[in-house]
Amino acid sequence: KTGKLVVIVGPMYSGKTSELIQFVEIYSLGKKKFKAFKPVIDDRYDDTHIVSHTNTKVKAFPITNPEEIKNKISGDESAVFIDEIQFFSENLAEVIQELIFNGIDVYCSGLDLTYKNNPFKTTSLIMSYADEVIKKKAVCHECGEYAGTISYKIVENGGEIDVGGFDKYIAVCRNCYVKLKGGN
Ligand code: ADP
Ligand code: TMP
Ligand code: MG
Ligand code: ZN
Repeated sequence: KTGKLVVIVGPMYSGKTSELIQFVEIYSLGKKKFKAFKPVIDDRYDDTHIVSHTNTKVKAFPITNPEEIKNKISGDESAVFIDEIQFFSENLAEVIQELIFNGIDVYCSGLDLTYKNNPFKTTSLIMSYADEVIKKKAVCHECGEYAGTISYKIVENGGEIDVGGFDKYIAVCRNCYVKLKGGN
């Protein structure tokens, strides 16, 4: 039997990592084998754990290249979990395809859009292969509505790849995004 692919997307602070960790718990409680991965570049809270903004965490292998996932897999895993997929090369999509065709369930999460409102290519690609896409929302930092779909950068430096948290980004709804942009 082939595995399934579940992708969790949305802006920053929308609960992507928390939801990923909840899926980990389901496999963990079921005594199923699994492995978790995260990009080395994401060193915000911890190198060797996937950590949410509310400090829930799961042990994970920090990797640079998607191919490293294949090397770490022994074949008896029921599931593989990957956070911050937007930071990986597009080749991650092929590696994930290989896993699901080999009967392993894959759960991954990441940003769908950069703070410039451009799609993250790797996330878009993986969403096309997904059995289920879970789109999360954040509370808009400006108007307080539960409609935040875009991350907005409050400091002007760095490019579209720039690791950070509350020091650099807020989540906003589309209307507030337009207002903030206009005010620049
Ligand atoms: P993500 O991985 O999408 O950035 P996390 O799962 O790490 O999200 O964190 C989600 C948590 O962040 C929420 O449960 C909430 O406690 C907190 N949080 C902080 N700011 C916001 C916001 N603007 N909207 C929603 N949750 C927020
Ligand atoms: P989060 O979705 O778990 O909050 O983490 C998103 C990470 O991505 C965080 O380190 C900031 C980074 N990031 C970028 O590199 N570019 C962007 O355009 C945005 C919005 C976030
Ligand atoms: Mg996260
Ligand atoms: Zn708003």
